[in-house]
Amino acid sequence: MTPTFALQSTSSPLHVAIIMDGNGRWATRRGLPRSAGHRAGARAVRGAVEAAARDPAIAALTLYAFSADNWRRPAPEVTALFRLLARFLATEGPRCAANGVRVSVIGRRDRLPAPLVSAIAATEAATAAGSALHLRIALDYSARWAIGAGCLVPDVDLLIRTGGERRLSDFLLWESAYAELVFLDRLWPDFTVADFAGALREFHARERRFGHLPGAAAR
Ligand code: FPP
Repeated sequence: MTPTFALQSTSSPLHVAIIMDGNGRWATRRGLPRSAGHRAGARAVRGAVEAAARDPAIAALTLYAFSADNWRRPAPEVTALFRLLARFLATEGPRCAANGVRVSVIGRRDRLPAPLVSAIAATEAATAAGSALHLRIALDYSARWAIGAGCLVPDVDLLIRTGGERRLSDFLLWESAYAELVFLDRLWPDFTVADFAGALREFHARERRFGHLPGAAAR
């Protein structure tokens, strides 16, 4: 049996969110085009989703795949990313359905290419019954826009950002009001199940006080 990695029991299942940063640098350091970094990033996504689905302590995983500001990137990179996402949904959708992973996409759909919108709808329908993990993929997502539109998701417990930057970049601003933040220097394609376990260990080692005095929130 594959071990789970939440390591400690928690009173309620967790919502983990990840800002997957560093694909471009990963590729550049290898003399590869940025699109190769995104492909490697998609492989890391598969590992993270499988690990989260196996872990009963994690109820939801939200991944920042394309921000509303990412439209500022060169058109070929944006096109390659959308193709990669559509392919990911086509190949991973059936695996998600088999593993009890319900897939949803948050963010705007009106500016996405039609084949990607269709792939999203098909994957959401095919995985709707999944109860092991709710995988949310944030696409053309802006937290400021989502707050204005009233499109809010459950509170985030743990927010992980890879790639060395220490900012939220318009991701789940409202929902992260009490999130524990873990910033990792590792580039996203190098993110492993051990890194995930380490972030969860750090989360469990922190005292979440929600405004209470030290020690009071746990009582
Ligand atoms: C940020 O790294 C990453 C993105 C803008 C795209 C994230 C996409 C993936 C991880 C792959 C596909 C996703 C799914 C859900 C299958 P960056 O490219 O800005 O890296 P850099 O800061 O090193 O340039």
